[in-house]
Amino acid sequence: MRTYLVTGGAGFIGSNYIHYMFRKYGDTIKIINVDALTYAGNLENLKDLEKKENYIFIRANICDKEAIEKIFAENEIDRVVHFAAESHVDRSIRDPEIFVQTNVLGTAVMLNCAKAAWELPDGSFQKDKKFLHVSTDEVYGSLEKEGEYFCETTPYAPHSPYSASKAGSDMLVKAYMDTYHFPANITNCSNNYGPYQFPEKLIPLIINNALQGRKLPVYGDGKNVRDWLYVEDHAKAIDMVQEKGRLFETYNVGGHNEKQNIEIVNIIIETLQEMLEDSDPRKALVTRDLITYVEDRKGHDRRYAIAPDKIKAQIGWYPETMFKDGIRKTIKWYFEHEDWMKNVTSGDYQKYYNEMYGSR
Ligand code: NAD
Ligand code: DAU
Repeated sequence: MRTYLVTGGAGFIGSNYIHYMFRKYGDTIKIINVDALTYAGNLENLKDLEKKENYIFIRANICDKEAIEKIFAENEIDRVVHFAAESHVDRSIRDPEIFVQTNVLGTAVMLNCAKAAWELPDGSFQKDKKFLHVSTDEVYGSLEKEGEYFCETTPYAPHSPYSASKAGSDMLVKAYMDTYHFPANITNCSNNYGPYQFPEKLIPLIINNALQGRKLPVYGDGKNVRDWLYVEDHAKAIDMVQEKGRLFETYNVGGHNEKQNIEIVNIIIETLQEMLEDSDPRKALVTRDLITYVEDRKGHDRRYAIAPDKIKAQIGWYPETMFKDGIRKTIKWYFEHEDWMKNVTSGDYQKYYNEMYGSR
């Protein structure tokens, strides 16, 4: 039975990935999920898996070298899929240090422990061991001209503390591959959306606010462009890169789905209008009047766009979910998980919201 060590599996993409992997491989794999359960980690995302014998949750910080060493010592790990990170750009602008700690130093611990566990006395590595580092398109910076795309050879030019810390972590992985021939891949993916996304990110925040008739905050002129990918397509890409990709290579993963932020907000309003029953009192609340332009994000990258040509040509992956279907599935999931949303927005969320949006 192949054993996966997944870091950050209680977060948005990690939990979707774990669900995807069990759906795909059933009980032929074992997954060990290592997560510190920061504000972004939520065990409710994985509640249905709790009783599975081949799923293990370990609460640990990836910066805690002893804890990570112990996990490698006690388990025969075949694959590492490294999601754990501080992931929100706005938070990185307010509090950059934790981003360096988790994203850079935590990745260094993960690399060191995997290397120590897998390395043979002659400096080569045990057969069929692989480390996949999950990264972002934001490391490439911002595209200003239409028709330009990020590809794997685009020079790194991160702007936010978040993207700089992810770029640092990518560089460490590259250094391990170049120096030790450490068996790894990097994926750089565009903006994900789908179930279990924490409502600090644009799409779940807009859905949640709209359903309560709260203002919909749009930064700047609303014309910044992101390339949106349904999260399950990302989970599939990660698995395909580990199984079919060439070791030591980077693969860009994107949705071929560029949209301005204001378009996203309008699509959500229209889709909510279509999906809410006439008898639902929330229907009257969801209107364009809620759209509120607010002060821009500092250093706000204008446009991200990925050309996922390499992953398509080498591995056969492509984004399967059309945005109009993905956004309906996402909204349906939030309709069906009102308690999940209530739980994650109780407690500290309100404080975060007031700090981030109160004076905007
Ligand atoms: P998330 O914030 O939803 O989840 C992060 C998870 O990591 C949480 O469960 C959190 O508890 C855990 N974590 C944080 N610090 C930790 C630490 N020190 N030790 C152990 N666990 C820790 O993030 P996400 O959106 O699911 O992103 C996952 C990964 O994918 C990140 O590396 C991110 O950079 C990358 N990524 C995200 C997107 C996106 O659109 N969300 C796109 C491309 C790449
Ligand atoms: O591109 C991949 C990246 O996508 C990931 O690496 C990050 O982890 C992930 O958070 C995401 O970063 P963004 O900054 O693009 O996502 P966010 O949802 O925070 O914002 C999307 C766009 O919407 C961005 O241009 C800022 C804007 N925005 C965001 C929020 C939260 C608003 O206009 N209003 C808002 O309230």
